[in-house]
Amino acid sequence: VTAADLVVVANRLPVDYERRPDGSTGWKRSPGGLVTALEPTLRAREGAWVGWPGVPDVDVEPLVEDGLSLYPVRLSAQEVEDYYEGFSNGTLWPLYHDVVAQPQFHRHWWRAYTAVNQRFAEEVARVAAHGATVWVQDYQLQLVPGRLRELRPDLRIGFFLHIPFPPVELFRQLPWRTRIMEGLLGADLVGFHTDGGVRNFHWLAQELTGATPDRDPEVVRYGGRQVRLGAFPISIDSKQIDELSRSEPVLKRAAQIREELGNPARIVLGVDRLDYTKGIDVRLRAFHELLEENRVTGGDTSRSGAESAIDTVMIQLATPSRERVEHYQQMRDEIELSVGRINGEFARVGHPPVHYLHRSLPREELVAFFLTADVMLVTPLRDGMNLVAKEYVAARHDDGGVLVLSEFAGAAIELTSALLVNPHDTDGVKEALFAALTMNVDEGRKRMRTLRRQVLDHDVDRWARSFLEALGVKVSQ
Ligand code: G6P
Repeated sequence: VTAADLVVVANRLPVDYERRPDGSTGWKRSPGGLVTALEPTLRAREGAWVGWPGVPDVDVEPLVEDGLSLYPVRLSAQEVEDYYEGFSNGTLWPLYHDVVAQPQFHRHWWRAYTAVNQRFAEEVARVAAHGATVWVQDYQLQLVPGRLRELRPDLRIGFFLHIPFPPVELFRQLPWRTRIMEGLLGADLVGFHTDGGVRNFHWLAQELTGATPDRDPEVVRYGGRQVRLGAFPISIDSKQIDELSRSEPVLKRAAQIREELGNPARIVLGVDRLDYTKGIDVRLRAFHELLEENRVTGGDTSRSGAESAIDTVMIQLATPSRERVEHYQQMRDEIELSVGRINGEFARVGHPPVHYLHRSLPREELVAFFLTADVMLVTPLRDGMNLVAKEYVAARHDDGGVLVLSEFAGAAIELTSALLVNPHDTDGVKEALFAALTMNVDEGRKRMRTLRRQVLDHDVDRWARSFLEALGVKVSQ
C-alpha cells in the first residue's frame, strides 16, 4: 500500500470487521448515510480511507479492496466507550440534533475524544502523500483538521459535517466549544448540508476564536489563513439505485413482498437506523390513531366498523445502531412496545398491521421494499440530510409512491414536492399520511416526477465534485 493523494478519514471504515460464530473473520458493509455516500465517490477516485474497523481491540493490517486502500485505526474497548459511545454519541450527537435527547458532558469522555482524534491525525499524516488532499468526515473527528495542520502543513484539508451544525445557543453549552471550533478551523474548507450550518459556524467562529470576517461572506480569516465555508447537500448514487430498481430480480421481489403481505391496497414503509432522532415513534402513533379512527384497516378487512377504511399495512425496517448507548436501548424498548400494542389491538392471526424488522437488509431487498411501498414515511425530529428519502425517490422509476418527509430533515430543502410535515405535530403527520394514502394518482405521479428530476440530477458524485472543487482540487469528469 503506497502513499495516497486523496485520503478520506472517517470514524468508521466503509466495512466493519466481523468475527463470525464459527470462529472465522470477514468484513461487512458499515451502517449509515456517510458510508452510503462516500464509498462510490472514493472508489471512483482510488483514494485511501482511514477509519476504525468497528470493533474494539483488533489489530488489522492495511488492505486494498477493489482499488480502495483501507487503513484501520485501532480503538481500545475503553476508547470505544468514552470516545465513540460517550463523547461522540452521548454528547455531540444529541447536542447537534437540537437536544432531542439530553446530552451529557463528561471530562473523561472529552479526554478520550482528544486522544483518539490525535491518533487519527497521526495515522493520516503517515499515509498521505506530500501535498495530498485530506477529507475529514463528521462530528467524531472535529479536532483532526487542526491537529493535522500542525503535523503536516503541506496538506490540503477539507472537513464535512454529515449531521446538522446546531444553533449557536445550543453549541455554546459545550464546555469545550472553543477547542472544537479551533479544530475545525484547521481545515481549508468546512462544509455543511445547509446554509443554516454555514451561518451558525460563521458567527461562532468570530464569537469564540477571534476569527474575523472576510469580504467574501463564505470565508473567515483565522491564524493568518482563509477558511472557506459552504453548503454542500449530500446525495446518493441515484443511477445505481434507479438501475437496481429496474432489474428483474428486484421487480419480482417487490411483487412477492406485496403478495406475502396479503396484497393490501396500501403499504406504508419506514426505513431507519434505530435512532431517537428519526421519529419512528411519531409515525407509529399516527398510524395507530388512523387504525383507532377506523380510517385504515391494518390488514384485517373484516374488522367491524372499518368497512370503509383503506386496507393498509405498515412496515418498519430498523437497522440496529449504537446498542450499548442508553438512549438507544430505551428507544428500542419504546418502539417495540408500541408495535406490540398496535398488533395486539388490531391484528388478525397471520395479519399484523405493523411488520417490524430489527436488522439490516441487503441493498436489493431494500430497493424491492421501496418499490412496493405506496407511501414512504420519513419523519425525523432532526436530520442532517436523510438519504433514505432520496433512495426511495431514486427507486421509483415507475413514478409511483408518495413521500411524506419531515421539514426538519436537510432533504426537505431540495425535496419540496414531498408532503412536508412537522414531526412534533401528531395530527399533522396523521393527516399527511392519510392524504398520501388517498392521493389522486396523477398528482402523486406529478410530485414524484419532480422529486426524481432533483435526485437524479444531484447525485453523490456531483456533491463530491463540488466539495473537492471548492477545496481547490482539480477533478476529472
Ligand atoms: C450517521 C453519522 C455517521 C455514522 C452513521 C452510523 O450517518 O453521520 O457518521 O457513521 O450515522 O452510525 P455509527 O455510529 O454506527 O457509525
